[in-house]
Amino acid sequence: MSQGQYIDYPRWPSLAEESLRIDIKIPEKVRVRDRELNYGGTFRGVVISGMGGSGIAGDIVRDTLQDRLKIPIVVNKDLHLPPYVDDNYLVIAISYSGNTAETIRCYETCIDEGIPVITISTGGKLKELAERNGTPHMTIPKATAPRYGLPCLLYSCLRALGKALNIEDKVINEAENSINYIRKGVEDYERKFKSLADKLANKFTMIYTPSPIASLGVRFKNDMNENAKQPVAVCIIPESEHNDLAIHIREIERLEILVVDAPSVRDTEHGVHVTALTKVLDELGRRYYRIELEGDSRLSEIMYGVTGLGMMTIDIARIVGVDPVKIEAIDRVKKYVTARS
Ligand code: F6R
Repeated sequence: MSQGQYIDYPRWPSLAEESLRIDIKIPEKVRVRDRELNYGGTFRGVVISGMGGSGIAGDIVRDTLQDRLKIPIVVNKDLHLPPYVDDNYLVIAISYSGNTAETIRCYETCIDEGIPVITISTGGKLKELAERNGTPHMTIPKATAPRYGLPCLLYSCLRALGKALNIEDKVINEAENSINYIRKGVEDYERKFKSLADKLANKFTMIYTPSPIASLGVRFKNDMNENAKQPVAVCIIPESEHNDLAIHIREIERLEILVVDAPSVRDTEHGVHVTALTKVLDELGRRYYRIELEGDSRLSEIMYGVTGLGMMTIDIARIVGVDPVKIEAIDRVKKYVTARS
């Protein structure tokens, strides 16, 4: 591997700080062709549209902000916007490269239908289109690959949404605090996460994550898939206590279980579900590893876990003998799709 041992992870705190400071100007209205995009009113909902390593930023933003908003944050990892999305919604189209066909397609729908849209990318076609149309755009710093640029995607998105919804001060303050927990995730890595790599290498992992921080489970799956080339099932608590859990009555070869616990859920109803789950796993004699998150907010907890577990997937890649950076099969699909679109 030509990159540093943990690729961009040691730079994550500074990438996050830089991205949170990126300025964005959101005008009241933008006229594109015969349509007027209205950014100044109140929105009926927000859609964050992006794929893979970019789309996950939307999941984390949703987990961070949804509870305090009266409007839905919809994460759209698809070619089309949901049919109910109209010009009363705000869309954030997010793509690290700016060249992902699905995300460009959603941006174009916004322009065609007069839906206010903000774009976030390192450059690419999305930036070009935004400049041509005069829609607000944020250019973010580069990393080795999209997934290693998560802080750039996430913190710029928080900044943009904070501004668009007039909740900037609160969002920025919480985001700044969470960067301390990215730093802590890097510092705690050797002590807290690294030993898991040997245990999960060449296994199928099920990760149980409480629903308020479900994005951590999804990100872990994506990192295991793309970095370590390993399969993972994301099991969201409480839903997975109604289906996934049933399989643990059987001893399944090569299966490992992670259970995520966090201060923000411990003394809540979700905490009751985590306790019930581990109690049943104990009764069934199933081995599991508990991931104890740290943090002063959901965002901090998620980013602490995303950092530690993400670094661990790079160690797994090394153990199983794959290059964590290369994602050849994904690149091939993108080539075919781009050629046809
Ligand atoms: C690659 C990665 C992928 C990409 C996805 C979308 O590191 O994480 O999941 O993020 O293929 O591409 P972008 O992010 O450029 O829109």
